[in-house]
Amino acid sequence: MAPLRGAVIGCGFFAQNHLHAWKDIADVEIVAVCDKDAAKAQAAAEKFGVPAWYDDAARMFGAVELDFVDIATTMPTHRALVELAAHHHVPTIVQKPFAPHWDDCVAMVAICKAAGIPLMVHENFRFQAPLDAVRKVLGEGLIGKPYYGRISFRTGYDIFAGQPYLMKEEQLVILDLGIHVLDMARVYLGEVETVYAQTQRVHPHIVAEDMVTLMLRHKNGATSVVEASYASRISPDPFPQTLVSIEGTRGSVQLLEGYRMRVTSDGETTEKNVSTPLLSWTSEPWHVAQESVLRTQQHWVACLREGRAPETSGEDNLRTYALVVAAYRSAAERRAVAPTR
Ligand SMILES: NC(=O)c1ccc[n+]([C@@H]2O[C@H](COP(=O)([O-])OP(=O)(O)OC[C@H]3O[C@@H](n4cnc5c(N)ncnc54)[C@H](O)[C@@H]3O)[C@@H](O)[C@H]2O)c1
Repeated sequence: MAPLRGAVIGCGFFAQNHLHAWKDIADVEIVAVCDKDAAKAQAAAEKFGVPAWYDDAARMFGAVELDFVDIATTMPTHRALVELAAHHHVPTIVQKPFAPHWDDCVAMVAICKAAGIPLMVHENFRFQAPLDAVRKVLGEGLIGKPYYGRISFRTGYDIFAGQPYLMKEEQLVILDLGIHVLDMARVYLGEVETVYAQTQRVHPHIVAEDMVTLMLRHKNGATSVVEASYASRISPDPFPQTLVSIEGTRGSVQLLEGYRMRVTSDGETTEKNVSTPLLSWTSEPWHVAQESVLRTQQHWVACLREGRAPETSGEDNLRTYALVVAAYRSAAERRAVAPTR
């Protein structure tokens, strides 16, 4: 079977991981890259041996036969690019956050559905090996029925150095990072009934919140505390690790610093390292996050080949995005809020 022909739109900071990961997937050939900054598109084509580059997505869609497109631009551009892909009937994977506004997310899901093409959000925490290891423990029933969770991503790492546009965002840590952590709360403890959020802005030179503490009530009665912070001066800084602690009727599972997973089941405790080895293009401390890009893209390819909906489909991501919307409303109105979906 011939490899799937893909294109990447957006050749900036994070797309470098996408491009490396596509190279590692034998079933995919990236036949074109596109960036509105022509120099970036050309540089990516040269670095990754891609035969064609464009500085205009509409021109690319008109010129190249594609089995899928991977949109790795920032969120304000997602809707127009997804609409373009749907117009050309090209299956689409798009980076998180899905869009700046709820209505854009709903519109993208609807237009892809109408065009009959799959749409997946690149929600890579779902595919991160250590976070997946915790999910497996829950799935195996080792801790019984979970009733409490703490899922926490707190760091002082200077994210603004690589992504300076984040300083000007009007919604920051909930939408940029909390969205991942909230997604994992859904995965571990089920859909959410109410969200209560408190935010703070610590960094003096940014527009929006850089710290949030969320309390979730899940539909099955479990509660969780979800934390996201870009303003934590802690040592050691676990960046880019998500720390997890989940308690259940038979025990608990913890994801501790250094990717140690500790499981207590019926009074017996075991611990193992759930990190992943370095790939040729990954480096510490990013490696586990970078590797999750590869796993995310492998999932997309498997779904395309097998004709099944991706786990992090646009439709699924609406449920996570609804938690983000509820969190901002909760913080503004100082009360618990039920997500709209
Ligand atoms: N999943 C993760 O772990 C993770 C981590 C970092 C960033 N991201 C996400 O990746 C996305 C990109 O972030 P980034 O930091 O790489 O941004 P960036 O600004 O470095 O790169 C975006 C690129 O898209 C290009 N672009 C913008 N509009 C375009 C258009 N209409 N057509 C073609 N090219 C266009 C820009 O010129 C730029 O080169 C964001 O949504 C961000 O949230 C995800």
